[in-house]
Amino acid sequence: MKQNENKIVVAIDGPAGAGKTTVSKLVAKKLGFVHVDTGAMYRAVTYKLLNSDISLDDIEAIKKTLETLDIDFKLEDDELKVLVDKKDVSKEIRSEYVSANVNFVAAIPEVRQKLRELQRLIGMKYNCVMEGRDITTAVFPETKFKFYLDAPVEERALRRYNELVEKGDKVTFEEVKSAIIRRDELDRTRGINPLRIDENAIVINTFGLTQQQVADKIVEYVKSMSNI
Ligand code: DC
Repeated sequence: MKQNENKIVVAIDGPAGAGKTTVSKLVAKKLGFVHVDTGAMYRAVTYKLLNSDISLDDIEAIKKTLETLDIDFKLEDDELKVLVDKKDVSKEIRSEYVSANVNFVAAIPEVRQKLRELQRLIGMKYNCVMEGRDITTAVFPETKFKFYLDAPVEERALRRYNELVEKGDKVTFEEVKSAIIRRDELDRTRGINPLRIDENAIVINTFGLTQQQVADKIVEYVKSMSNI
């Protein structure tokens, strides 16, 4: 399947806590593109499986669930809502329970194949800013616009910690940092489509930059390389 020549996909990868979501939203808004959070899609599948009586080892049952998978997005007050079977689960997919299991689900080849198909369909249909772990390397390897956002682990952990505290979660900085280190390791060593820097990606170290500054750099580059 070749990318529709008329559509633009801005692909943004990077580890947890590098600021991808906020930056992607800002870029999408500025360019008038759709924002696609593929991490939310992996979380939605994880949520669905955890809330069914399917064991995460039962590949046949998982394949069946994927056949009738109903995940959708809805933009509400500038926030992207995630719907599973028409129900808004935006909050639930951010729970610790889902976070603790998502890497396992994201390592199942059948799940990756299904979500990659859905992500490709979205990118064929809409100009979009798509963020994740394998967008530059596996989902839209042919796009001209590839970015990899990175920051030191301390900085990423601090950002995540502040977000969680703001939400009212009772966590310590050390707990958040260890969870980030563990997720980095799982994302980078996954057998299928691991997190890695694509040779054509522009790497942006977000440390010391505001998210607006990072977004501006990306928008500037995209505009300079296209006629939008
Ligand atoms: O971006 P996030 O933290 O919400 O992503 C949740 C998990 O989903 C992440 O730990 C790895 C997985 N993921 C993936 O494997 N591939 C993607 N394109 C996006 C996310």
